[in-house]
Amino acid sequence: MTTTAIAVLVILLIQPVFGFVVPPPRPSSGGIHHSCSSSHRPTFTTTTTTPGTSSRLFALERAKEVFDKYSISNVISSKDLANMLNSLDVDASREEADALFRYLDTDGDGSITLEEFLPWYSETAEEASEISSTFQSLLLGRRTVHQFDQTPVSDDVLRRAIACAIAAPNRSQSEPWRFIQVGPETVRKFVSLKESMEAPQSESSNNWTKIPGWCVVTSKLSDDPVEELDDFKSTSCAVQNFMLSMWSEGIGTKWTSGPVQKTQEFADLCGVDTKVEKVAGCIWYGFATGGLKNADPKRRKKGVEDVLTTLP
Ligand SMILES: Cc1cc2nc3c(=O)[nH]c(=O)nc-3n(C[C@H](O)[C@H](O)[C@H](O)COP(=O)(O)O)c2cc1C
Repeated sequence: MTTTAIAVLVILLIQPVFGFVVPPPRPSSGGIHHSCSSSHRPTFTTTTTTPGTSSRLFALERAKEVFDKYSISNVISSKDLANMLNSLDVDASREEADALFRYLDTDGDGSITLEEFLPWYSETAEEASEISSTFQSLLLGRRTVHQFDQTPVSDDVLRRAIACAIAAPNRSQSEPWRFIQVGPETVRKFVSLKESMEAPQSESSNNWTKIPGWCVVTSKLSDDPVEELDDFKSTSCAVQNFMLSMWSEGIGTKWTSGPVQKTQEFADLCGVDTKVEKVAGCIWYGFATGGLKNADPKRRKKGVEDVLTTLP
């Protein structure tokens, strides 16, 4: 993915464009009068993205179903349009919905038919599907980075990654995670600990002091092993969000889980109270040596067909 593509995606993900965005002129509509504010096609973002292009038909079917639900005598009123947009996950304020209503009401009769609504929705769904495929490319493109340059990474990048991490699903709103940003002084203590343990080669041949970013992630402990496992799953989701956020900004990550971080000494160095939380992993992050494309190619033994079971 090019830097520009990544930047565009970041803008889409982090600062979604909202409301009326320099809309293109409306195509001629047979001489029906429109006021200035209703002569441009209003564009909105959707809260969720509509399924990909191949699923566009499903999006239209969905629109028809929702239209049927809100319409009376096969037409939609101004108030119902706002509710219908909500149901279709199109982000629009009441004012924006009103402006859209004026735009869609091509014959000016104060109501909207399905025929008036669908072409606009179809284009909106198309735009959403482009966002969806960009998002999926980002997910598919992520890979673990093993070699980092020493260029420091801005704390803002870390904060955005943590904001994405804590948006992860979690059991009973337990929010079982904690993120510990580790500085060079503490990393040097990790190195001493590692040397004192004579950790096996498998730990990593990296020089830990040269890794630009360290973030230790912890997960809550519980008396109930089922709850603790669920919490750990939630924390794993958070880590994935964290790594994807970094990747979207051109920053590589590696989730490490070697023997050093399983020790009480490591927990003590991180200020982790092992009676209430445990170290889930340590995320290294930084600019990838040779660029992100130089990271290990994705290796998966199984494809979708190998892992998908469909029941009647
Ligand atoms: C829970 C967990 C622990 C991991 N621990 C290590 C580790 O200690 N050392 C390492 O080199 N990679 C570690 N990884 C990264 C995996 O090796 C990597 O995700 C895997 O090779 C797949 O590559 P990809 O991330 O590029 O898809 C870990 C990944 C996970 C999810």
